[in-house]
Amino acid sequence: MTPKIVPSVLTADFARLGEVVAELDEAGVDRIHWDVMDGTFVPNLSFGPDVIAACRPHARCGFEVHLMCNRPEELFPRYVEAGCELLLVHPETLRQPHQAYRSITELGARAGIALSPASPLSHVDHMLDLVDLVLVMTVDPGFGGQSYLAGMEPKIAAARAKLDTVDRAVELEVDGGIGPGTIAPAARCGADVFVSGSALWRYPSFAEGVSDLRERARSAVG
Ligand code: DX5
Ligand code: ZN
Repeated sequence: MTPKIVPSVLTADFARLGEVVAELDEAGVDRIHWDVMDGTFVPNLSFGPDVIAACRPHARCGFEVHLMCNRPEELFPRYVEAGCELLLVHPETLRQPHQAYRSITELGARAGIALSPASPLSHVDHMLDLVDLVLVMTVDPGFGGQSYLAGMEPKIAAARAKLDTVDRAVELEVDGGIGPGTIAPAARCGADVFVSGSALWRYPSFAEGVSDLRERARSAVG
């Protein structure tokens, strides 16, 4: 399977977000990752649904939203209406996780379970029939530009082993500090979707970055 490269626009120039998502789409990204922060679950603030909706017409690729907020279930319909086709949600932010993940599917979107570094993989138990993706965070949520936590690699590998027992496709995504030096080990542990923010912006162009990262992930496993 071809590794998927999913840029986080947290690194973008916010004054020209629409143009940036168009450039990323043109560069061949698999989808775009929106980091939503509420200043409570994480000590930072970012995009509301209206910002994402305003950017939606500028790209054809899919949008995923990573909800780093408390009580995100109240916002699910707004982010789906804004054009997000995949909602990544931290289980500890939910009052009724099982019901909440099911409600995402009922809204017509796909659901992903996001795990902070300290959150155990056991959060996905009893929930795998409801989700299409497991996200293993390789930094603490809240900010771009942090260093990749190699200590998460056994968790990525354990998630891969768990997903291999499921008889449907569930993506395994990693998020945080992913770049040319870290994508190969994450891929070898079994990740197949890679969020990249600051590292992608350091390439001469998005197209070069996307193809270099994809190739590094592909050659790491093949
Ligand atoms: C952290 C976010 C990540 C991060 C990615 O809270 O969820 O998506 O910003 O950016 P880099 O690749 O710079 O770690
Ligand atoms: Zn993220």
